Formats: sequence, C-alpha cells, structure tokens
Amino acid sequence: MTALTDAGTAVIRCRNGDHTIALTDRELIAGRLIEASRKHSFDPDVDVDWDAPPVPGLLYAPPEAVSLYETPLWDLLSDDQRVELTRQETASLASFGIWSELLLMQILVQHSYRNRYDSSHVAYALTELADECRHSVMFGRMVQTLGLRTHRPRALEFHLLKVLGAIHDPMLMFAAALVIEEFTDAIQRITFPDERIQPLVRQVSRIHVIEEARHIRYAREELKRQVAASSATRRKLTATRLAWGMSAIIVRNIMHPSGYAAAGLDPEVARREAAASPHRQAVLQWASRKSMAAFDEVGFLDGRARAIWQKSGFLARDAA
Ligand SMILES: [Fe+2]
Ligand SMILES: [Fe+2]
Repeated sequence: MTALTDAGTAVIRCRNGDHTIALTDRELIAGRLIEASRKHSFDPDVDVDWDAPPVPGLLYAPPEAVSLYETPLWDLLSDDQRVELTRQETASLASFGIWSELLLMQILVQHSYRNRYDSSHVAYALTELADECRHSVMFGRMVQTLGLRTHRPRALEFHLLKVLGAIHDPMLMFAAALVIEEFTDAIQRITFPDERIQPLVRQVSRIHVIEEARHIRYAREELKRQVAASSATRRKLTATRLAWGMSAIIVRNIMHPSGYAAAGLDPEVARREAAASPHRQAVLQWASRKSMAAFDEVGFLDGRARAIWQKSGFLARDAA
C-alpha cells in the first residue's frame, strides 16, 4: 500500500523497492503553469506563416524519425519518394495528435467538473484545454496546407476510445496523456531546429513543443498524486491496461498505411519492414524514455506492464 508522509512525499512500494516521490502542492504548480501560459502562448493564425509556398526539395520530417529509415526499403527509395514519405508521416502524426487531443480535452473537462471551480488547478486545466483547442485547429490546418487529409484510427479503436474517453479514470487518463505528449514532443523537439525540414512544419512543431512542456508537467504531477492516493492493486491494474492499450495504439496510428501507398510502396510490406526495424525500435524507445522514467518512478512499470512495454518495443529488455 502507498504510505503518505507529512513532508509532501509519498512512499510507493515497487518491484525494486520503496520509491519516495515528491508531491508538490497542487495549487502552487498550477499557479506557475498559468503564469508560464500567460507569458508563452501562441496564436497559430498569426504565428505561423500559412501562405508561404513549400520549399522545393525540403523534407517534412527528420528522416531519422521516419518509420522506414535504415530499412532495406528505405535504400530503394528515390529522393522524391523520401520527401513524400516524410509528408505522409507528418500528416499521420498530426492526425494522431488531433485524435489524442480530443480525448485529452474530454479528460480536462471531466477533471475540472469534479474539482473546485475557483482553484488554480481547474484554471490551469481550462487553460490547457484552450491550448489543445488551438493545437488541434493548427494540426488540421497544417495537414490541409500540405495538400493532404487527416486520418481517423481504425473503426475498433475509434469507437472503443469514444466510449472509454467518456469514463472518468484520472490515473489512467493522465498516464495516457503523458506517454503520448512525451512521444510527440520528442519527435517535434528534433523537428523544429532542423534546417532540412519545411518551415511550416518547423513553426508548428516549435509552438507545440513550447506549449506542451506545461502539459507534460501537469500530467506528470497529477499522475503522482493519483498514484499516491490509490492502492497498489489498482495502480498495477491501471498500469497494465495502459501498457496494453497505448503500446498498440501508438504503433498502429503514428503512420497510416495509406501514406505508404501514396509514396509508391506496398503498405503491408512497408508496415512489416517498419515493425522489424531495429532503428524503429530504437526511435520508439528514445521517444518514450521520459514517460518510461516517470512511470518507473511511480510504480507503473511493475509486473505485467513492464513486460508489455518491452514486448512492444517501447522499453529496452535489459532496462532496470
Ligand atoms: Fe497539444
Ligand atoms: Fe498537450
């Protein structure tokens, strides 16, 4: 069981011993995040140059983050095909981003509904909701400007998450938000400074990285509090459900099969090559390293969860 102490910490009993986690005052954290939001928020309508034409020859994503990079198939691609693949992967990631943000917005509304309306904690949840609204509009407009269409997940995932997203389970939902936000953030952090990439994608990535840093902090702190207030059994069950669901959802949705076809590839062959690629596995682990470290800290990698993350390639098998 979790033991709460008087010193703003909680002791969580984990597989590899007791973890002491610091619980910073909820109002204090929210106040700081609101202050940061006041200073560093963007209006994509004016802060992105939507009218600039694409620069010929530039990519739309860092090639190292492309699903087929360093596979035998990648070596066979022409320069034009590589550019097209990066355009398709960027549109897929943005589509996945919008879907995740729509689910997160639901969580933030539910969370606000159940907390004190005059608290800084709720004020920040609503501030984040406003950020996510702007992000989803921005991602949609980016995909449209790239001359493409957004994708929905497969019907099963689309309908399942439509139902699950309406059920209030803050520990599961903030953990899910954390793993997705860290993942997208990792890719976008290497995208915005990269001069090989189209200015439009770099501008959108930069705005998202700056605003997401606050969201990641909020989700991380809230996850710690939720874990501290729950039993070890509930925590392990939630961690297992999260690992099982998210590992599959992320892998299946960050690249839509139609994107491979648009680049002149057989979608099934491309999907298989990406799944078998050691480089792709390394990218998944690198992009998830911060969320996995946060999960380890709060006992979310105990038991079945660790094995599921490892089997799906998000966590190295020899990780402590
Ligand atoms: Fe966002
Ligand atoms: Fe976010």
